[in-house]
Amino acid sequence: MPNIVVIGGQWGDEGKGKVVDLLAPRFDIVARFSGGPNAGHTVRRGDRKYALRHIPSGILAPNVTCVIGNGAVIDPGSLRDEIASLAGAGVSVEGRLWISQRAHVILPAYIEWETKREESGVWKIGTTRRGVGPAYAGKIARTGIQMVELYDPERLPGRIATALGLFNGSSGLSVAAQGSPHRDAAGDLAAAFAAHAGALEPFVTDTSRLLAERIASGARVLFEGAQGAMLDIDHGSYPFVTSSNSTAGGACTGLGISPTSIEGVLGVFKAYSTRVGEGPFPTEQKGEAGDKLRERGHEYGTVTGRPRRCGWFDAVATRYTARLNGMDCAALTLLDVLDAFDEISVCTAYRYRGSSISEYPAEPWVASACEPVYKQVKGWRRDTTGCRSFDELPVEARDYIRTIEDLVECDMDMVSVGPTPECSIVREVSKLSAWLGG
Ligand code: GDP
Ligand code: IMO
Ligand code: MG
Repeated sequence: MPNIVVIGGQWGDEGKGKVVDLLAPRFDIVARFSGGPNAGHTVRRGDRKYALRHIPSGILAPNVTCVIGNGAVIDPGSLRDEIASLAGAGVSVEGRLWISQRAHVILPAYIEWETKREESGVWKIGTTRRGVGPAYAGKIARTGIQMVELYDPERLPGRIATALGLFNGSSGLSVAAQGSPHRDAAGDLAAAFAAHAGALEPFVTDTSRLLAERIASGARVLFEGAQGAMLDIDHGSYPFVTSSNSTAGGACTGLGISPTSIEGVLGVFKAYSTRVGEGPFPTEQKGEAGDKLRERGHEYGTVTGRPRRCGWFDAVATRYTARLNGMDCAALTLLDVLDAFDEISVCTAYRYRGSSISEYPAEPWVASACEPVYKQVKGWRRDTTGCRSFDELPVEARDYIRTIEDLVECDMDMVSVGPTPECSIVREVSKLSAWLGG
């Protein structure tokens, strides 16, 4: 069994939580490498729903070790709530959840600052307002606070004052040199954080070393991405993106592991498209088709409850993300949502100022002005939720999957036809099935 990265191939919410939970028992470790409480990964057990934000989606598999890497950002209060909520459901994380010493901390002021900026209407991104962007901004500006710093009470108030300075018009340097107007607030905050720090201390460790030692002794690791490749800070639809690398390369930097530890990349694609927040979305359907996708797919944000924007599958964007991440194969999720359509559209190219474009454009204003070119595929109008093999799927559904495979240039080795683990098909002759059997 190789070590693999599982990442979203669209704009997030592709069903990564379901796929990771399904695969987790075949691995020893599931390690999250980016994002923070902006993520909402849903894992289902019967009617019970677990909405995981920081904690890897392998946590329900009892023998799996879960790691939150240095590339993630952590809201300590929210992470404690998540741990408590799992404990309430009988899931214990003690002794099998590990948090990187180097992961950055989200301060309450970051959330306030982000909310103000979003509400000002200037440069609105439509963020999740969880302080994730400011935490990464502080990290890059070198004013951020790492988890390990919570355990140095002497230094912490000064470091928090510097961190606050970045978002209040004074540079970290001048704050350090001249003393800070934020020193009182920082002192209060440091005291408030002491309880969080104490509660999380048993989990905080050198996770890069832990992974290196476990991999060297033969452990199998699934690297779990958050968000989606189209939201990647470098490669996504900038500036309407998240603030971290959600692409496969983020697994190395976000966990402190070598590229040679990764042997495959599994993409996760929804059978149509959704996006939350602002930014270009060429295949968005604002009318009846979009409403039907939203209602059938329960497309409301796991974190914010916002209605997700819905549209048809976009093979231009997904061909780009498949190439960008070197996806060996993929899971196609929420296929059952399309069960009730007579006809389904798939975007094969864009038209921009009279020309055809087959590559996703870097300029957001071009992407916003692109008209999708659609291929129409016949719907199957049959319930697929009970299908347990590829051959049991209606012939039109199989044709739809093959159309997507050809356009994206990636095999859909897993097909998901419902939110619970049993509603899953792993194709017999496939790379994924070989990985799982190996
Ligand atoms: P993630 O962020 O990529 O983990 O995805 P989310 O959990 O935010 O959103 C995916 C939603 O679709 C969740 O409510 C899942 O329970 C649900 N889901 C996952 N796979 C399927 C599927 O194949 N069919 C249906 N109907 N729902 C699914
Ligand atoms: P999962 O892991 C969908 C989007 C936000 C916004 C942009 C920036 O559940 O797939 P941020 O709060 O990160 O600064 O917001 O990114 N976004 C997501 N959309 N799923 C997610 O995570 C997302 N995480 C962030 O809606 O457009
Ligand atoms: Mg989600």
